Amino acid sequence: MKSSLYTVVSAISLVSAHPHAALNPKVLVSRQFNTQDPYTNWPTYDQLPLDPSYPTKAAWGVWGADDVQGALNHITNATILAARGEIQLGRAINLNMDLNAFTTPINPNRKPLNHLFQPGDGYTDDVVVLNTQVSTQYDGLRHFPYSTDGNTTTYQWYNDLIENFDQVVGPAPTEVLGIQQAAQKGIAGRGVLLDFVGWALTQNMTFDAFTGYGINTSSLDAIAAWQGLPSNWSLPGDMLLIRTGWTKAYLNLTSYNQEILPWDPNLGSVGMNCSDDSLAWLWEKKLALIGADNPAFESLPMDKTIGGVARSLHQVFIGGWGQSIVEFLDLETLAEELHQLGRSTFFLTIQNLNIKSGIASPPNALAIL
Ligand SMILES: *[C@@H]1O[C@H](CO)[C@@H](O)[C@H](O)[C@H]1NC(C)=O
Ligand SMILES: *[C@@H]1O[C@H](CO)[C@@H](O)[C@H](O)[C@H]1NC(C)=O
Ligand SMILES: *[C@@H]1O[C@H](CO)[C@@H](O)[C@H](O)[C@H]1NC(C)=O
Ligand SMILES: *[C@@H]1O[C@H](CO)[C@@H](O)[C@H](O)[C@H]1NC(C)=O
Ligand SMILES: *[C@@H]1O[C@H](CO)[C@@H](O)[C@H](O)[C@H]1NC(C)=O
Ligand SMILES: *[C@@H]1O[C@H](CO)[C@@H](O)[C@H](O)[C@H]1NC(C)=O
Ligand SMILES: *[C@@H]1O[C@H](CO)[C@@H](O)[C@H](O)[C@H]1NC(C)=O
Repeated sequence: MKSSLYTVVSAISLVSAHPHAALNPKVLVSRQFNTQDPYTNWPTYDQLPLDPSYPTKAAWGVWGADDVQGALNHITNATILAARGEIQLGRAINLNMDLNAFTTPINPNRKPLNHLFQPGDGYTDDVVVLNTQVSTQYDGLRHFPYSTDGNTTTYQWYNDLIENFDQVVGPAPTEVLGIQQAAQKGIAGRGVLLDFVGWALTQNMTFDAFTGYGINTSSLDAIAAWQGLPSNWSLPGDMLLIRTGWTKAYLNLTSYNQEILPWDPNLGSVGMNCSDDSLAWLWEKKLALIGADNPAFESLPMDKTIGGVARSLHQVFIGGWGQSIVEFLDLETLAEELHQLGRSTFFLTIQNLNIKSGIASPPNALAIL
């Protein structure tokens, strides 16, 4: 079965592309990729990874051995054109929080934004020094490798395209998987909102956004049905956004409580439950990317296992599938308008910073109804 579905590329080509791989040569397995129909031989979740030497549930080789776009490959001219019907009212809605919304970033290792003004002679400039992960953010493919123990020597990036940590943070970083590739791809198409917090209220559910509440796939299916979506709602290239209620709860805190929140040693976050079940549900939907109004899309802390190995959804999404995550989205106005219109879908565009070797970016996300 396997040999008819997948091409085994000899280790020689991998060795020439990766000088260090000679130390531990990996047989690179790639799907027979048909550009006319990218879903020919599309592997099911159970068929991942294509080779047992790849890390947990990696989709390495699914888009070809040298692919750098990962899940963004689901976006095509056809999926963008098909989504234009979502623009019905001409109502454009900003989905980005203030870049300075977090005066103490939720991860306090990150420095807050530094915003300076520079007067010129008859004009004015400003200078923004930004950790790209302090407010609404798009996690690029250099951001979160697989690792079982946090030791940088064990890091593994999408399609094994980066050999060591020095190529990411060293003085001469390579460019492969940099955020410029996501900036140049052109990210647009159909967005789908699943409103967990809106649904939870109707269920009289109580949960604290700042604990590790895991949203499971049966809840997401129930939310889709509550919103009036059919069970087969997803289309390849869709971008799924989940409103967890985290941002709403954060903005409702006093500024004092916002300041101290990141230092709470028991701080968690509502988000998608880290489980095999969540991964299978998302993989089958062929999504171009996922996002939420919370710190990590998945629930925090990251202390779960997949297939008996310490893993996070981040590792499988970014390191495994080449699937980016958009975090800290402001979904409040969008959710309200969609509810009023009885809609769940919209046109969505994202434009990342076009900066070589970049790791993440403000997404400049815009919904159009
Ligand atoms: C899709 O659009 C790109 C330009 O954005 C163009 O180069 C390519 O030929 C188009 N593909 C098809 C199938 O129309
Ligand atoms: C990380 O792994 C390398 C190689 O096994 C080892 O030499 C090093 O001591 C480890 N670093 C830490 C901080 O454990
Ligand atoms: C939620 O509570 C309201 C008010 O007590 C009640 O009318 C409603 O039936 C409850 N809904 C569910 C799903 O339990
Ligand atoms: C999913 O979450 C809901 C809400 O917390 C819970 O009632 C249900 O039992 C969970 N389902 C599974 C399969 O864990
Ligand atoms: C969803 O299922 C319905 C029938 O249940 C079918 O008519 C429709 O074409 C399906 N939609 C998609 C996108 O597959
Ligand atoms: C907002 O804060 C008030 C006062 O602390 C609290 O009662 C309420 O539950 C909070 N609402 C949300 C959505 O967190
Ligand atoms: C989350 O997934 C774990 C398996 O990793 C499972 O034990 C737990 O019940 C799930 N939580 C919910 C709320 O479904």
